Amino acid sequence: MTEKYDKDEARGFGISNAAQRLRNYGWIARRSIKTLSGWFLRIGDFEHKYALSYHLYDNSEHVTWIRNRLGEMRGGNPNANIQPRLRELCDIVMLAPADTDFFAGYYGVLQAEVIKSIKADLKEFDRSANANEIRLLRRVLKDLEDQQAWFLSLGLDVENNEWAKEIKALIESMGGLHGELPHGEPYTITNYQPFVRPERIHFDSRITVGPLCSYEEREKMDAGQATIEQFKVFFNEFYAAALLASILYDAADSDYPWEMSADFSRHFWDEARHSEFGCIRLRELGCEPDRVNPVLFDESQGLPLLHRIAYLTRGLEAYFMPRKGKRVKDYEKVGDIRSQLFADQDWSDEINHVRYGSRWTDFLLDDDHRDLDDIVEEVKAHLSTVRGKPVSTIDAPF
Ligand SMILES: [Fe+2]
Ligand SMILES: [Fe+2]
Repeated sequence: MTEKYDKDEARGFGISNAAQRLRNYGWIARRSIKTLSGWFLRIGDFEHKYALSYHLYDNSEHVTWIRNRLGEMRGGNPNANIQPRLRELCDIVMLAPADTDFFAGYYGVLQAEVIKSIKADLKEFDRSANANEIRLLRRVLKDLEDQQAWFLSLGLDVENNEWAKEIKALIESMGGLHGELPHGEPYTITNYQPFVRPERIHFDSRITVGPLCSYEEREKMDAGQATIEQFKVFFNEFYAAALLASILYDAADSDYPWEMSADFSRHFWDEARHSEFGCIRLRELGCEPDRVNPVLFDESQGLPLLHRIAYLTRGLEAYFMPRKGKRVKDYEKVGDIRSQLFADQDWSDEINHVRYGSRWTDFLLDDDHRDLDDIVEEVKAHLSTVRGKPVSTIDAPF
């Protein structure tokens, strides 16, 4: 038994109080999915995008763990009793004027406050009565401390960041995340612009937009060159991650089941990782990633949520699927174990993605007069309009 869980010192929290704390952390984690998916599209540095994708999936897991525990607790409705100031805080934190402000406000202030608050709760929990909450929040804390370490490695000046000061004042005015500390002066941030979800994925000057080699061209190349071009296509999976980010962002303010956001959080993280596979392998092969072709994401914008899910999971991913197993075997044949590792993991992830697609297109089509084929036809009609020529099959130029 560690000192800080000494039963004589800790007073412990009853069910109602413990559940409220979990609800607050769960709310912050759930709203972080909207915040991080929006900023994934907006920030320019692609390596920061990778970090955000890992963090988004952490948050998704935290929501699931917290919901599971709340489900066991008397009166554990996950959405009850979130104080309005906490809701407001979680929505305002994404309205940062620029990338640096967002990092300072979200990680430097809000996340630092969550870490402080969880540590304070861990000191107060009773080692035995609150054993469930302790186990759960220790795991959450570990992830958040890892995220915080990444943020600190950016070396940003939080103290002197004007946006961060505003977020800090807001938290002080509401008496901390649980609203239990003395409340500061009422504080309202008025000087902000609404966040508009980008319809284009932003990149800094390291990345240019341009065409990639087609599959047929790669098939004709020698193995070395084909591998480089193939991992450029992996790097380009930013288009799929961006599509998922748009789905997560748009779903965040609707009353879909939590499990839908959980599945697409996983899917989103997988696609960002597949892009990271490309970045890692290209660098190993002496080639710095410098190009994306986000056309498939760009053309999907304007489609409703259901259609974007169908387009990606039942159209594009189904189109790419037959290449996956062959690629793993081809790398094995030439003894390229490193490339095979990435291709193997990618193939396995893709099988889940098609499964998520079936699950949620079926759900969204429940009670609809249309079926999946009708939706795919509507997607083709949309693509025909966007491209200005008839589109009869769903495919990709790379
Ligand atoms: Fe992928
Ligand atoms: Fe996928």
